[in-house]
Amino acid sequence: MPVTFNLGEALDSLLKAAATSAGLEAAAFVPDVRIADPRHGDFQANGVLGYAKARRLNPRAVAEQLVAALPAEVAADYTVAIAGPGFINFTLKPATLLAWLRAHDSAAHLRANAATARHGQTWVVDYSSPNTAKQMHVGHLRSAVIGEAICRLLEFSGAKVIRDNHVGDWGTQFGKLIWAYRRHLDAAAFAADPLEEFERLYQVGNAAADADPAVLEQARQELVKLQAGDPENLAVWKHINAVSLAAFQPIYDRLGIRFDHTLGESFYNDQVERIYRELAATGLAQESQGALVVFHPEHPRFKTQPFIMRKADGASNYATTDLATALYRAEYFHADGIVVVTDFRQADHFEQLYLTVRKWFAARSYRLPELHHVTFGAVTDADGKALRTRDGGTIKLKELLAEAEARAYALVSERSAELPEAERRAIAAVVGVGSVQYADLAQNRSSDYVFAWDKMISLEGNTAAYLLYAVARIHSIFRKLDAVPGEAATEAAGTPPETPAELALARKLVKFADALRLATDTLRPHFLCLYLYELAGDYSAFYAADKVAVDDPAVRARRLLLCARTLLVMETGLGLLGLRTLTRM
Ligand code: ARG
Repeated sequence: MPVTFNLGEALDSLLKAAATSAGLEAAAFVPDVRIADPRHGDFQANGVLGYAKARRLNPRAVAEQLVAALPAEVAADYTVAIAGPGFINFTLKPATLLAWLRAHDSAAHLRANAATARHGQTWVVDYSSPNTAKQMHVGHLRSAVIGEAICRLLEFSGAKVIRDNHVGDWGTQFGKLIWAYRRHLDAAAFAADPLEEFERLYQVGNAAADADPAVLEQARQELVKLQAGDPENLAVWKHINAVSLAAFQPIYDRLGIRFDHTLGESFYNDQVERIYRELAATGLAQESQGALVVFHPEHPRFKTQPFIMRKADGASNYATTDLATALYRAEYFHADGIVVVTDFRQADHFEQLYLTVRKWFAARSYRLPELHHVTFGAVTDADGKALRTRDGGTIKLKELLAEAEARAYALVSERSAELPEAERRAIAAVVGVGSVQYADLAQNRSSDYVFAWDKMISLEGNTAAYLLYAVARIHSIFRKLDAVPGEAATEAAGTPPETPAELALARKLVKFADALRLATDTLRPHFLCLYLYELAGDYSAFYAADKVAVDDPAVRARRLLLCARTLLVMETGLGLLGLRTLTRM
């Protein structure tokens, strides 16, 4: 029997085919296959109920017709039962479980089989995207971490992903910054921490401009010169951006992020005229009090709240560059999908942007990519307030990651004091940053997330340390048995899972596909986190109940197979979340 990666999806198509051969109105029949409560089976098709109800048919009778029309391979793979008013339950047979586990013996096989409709498509993911001349603080963590996980999930589903860091490298702040840079740059402070110095300079410029209208005017002139392409100011501006990007790099390195492009806002400067022209020509944009704006009459708020795409003073803004960015990604990258990851406060901006892009592209017959704005909530302290340092400052990402590593080192040293210090440090580097990444990913991104060190760097609960430890433990089992995970000869001797714990684990493993599917289609990595956490729990239960090193070679082989596949799925899954894993902890 052929073993598909995504069993639920395969059942869906088989049920649709059965609907045709059973003479149902196949086009109107949606099988609605879901993961079942394990007590009832593995998958459950709920679609008969709605179908029968709409046609005043007896749902049980329809379910029976449908089951009778299922191809023989379904009965070979599953125990099929009709339950209640007309649900169809499918329980995988142990032999089918074994076949799936054997077929999915490497990350490459999982990946090949995971390819979906996105196979061969190009997706541009715009994430992290901080503003230059400022340090990244804890608020910047989420976009980077969630964005990277989304990139990896999309890639795994067969898409070509273009990672684009859309940095905020242009704007009115550069007037004051350049003014202060010319007069107040402190070379020693700059050498020690350039971003801190830029932040200080901006504050100096800002305060001076507030206090003295002459300074404000000078700063304005600096900005005008920059915008007009004055070579000296351009050089300062370039320097500020280059230094900023170089300072971000160690954070990206720690998070395992590598951008294909860093096309910041300034990259689109020479394209804004075309945007004004096209949006005016299609009639979408109109003049309003000197500005060029777009209204959306069909929208309750945006019929009166304008999308300002050129300011009254003639300057371009965030909306202009984002319109140009959408066009560039469609025309130059031939994007099939665009994902932008920012916090929820930009929801209105992106709703207006995407409404505008849809109408504009339709008017010009441009090919429209799928447009997604992936939002996330705030990072807060235990009282739900924005996370700050003790003296009320913002928490710098750099310092946060260093603290994570220090705390992880304490945890590792307490548990595994016998390991040499260098190894404990190396482990702490993985556990520390992984804990921060995972804590961010494990929650539904739409909620605010409470930053709590004790919960996040812990071996208990749905944490990185718990999962990384589960992985390391499986490695240690193989080491103790002097065996290698995934050895074909051993695995070929395995018999189908039999004990309740073996069956529960195997049934969980085959649902990796469904978890991936859900996380990728909704662009919500927490579904994958939850799955991995549950898998680790099923593995622990199996390990506690069933000894691996038994004498019976067939039993031992099948248990080793279960260990090896759990390891493969865990390592693959954690890798998709952007975490590194360990073989020893
Ligand atoms: N630089 C922006 C910020 O810090 C985020 C940019 C997101 N991407 C975009 N295409 N607008 O809020």
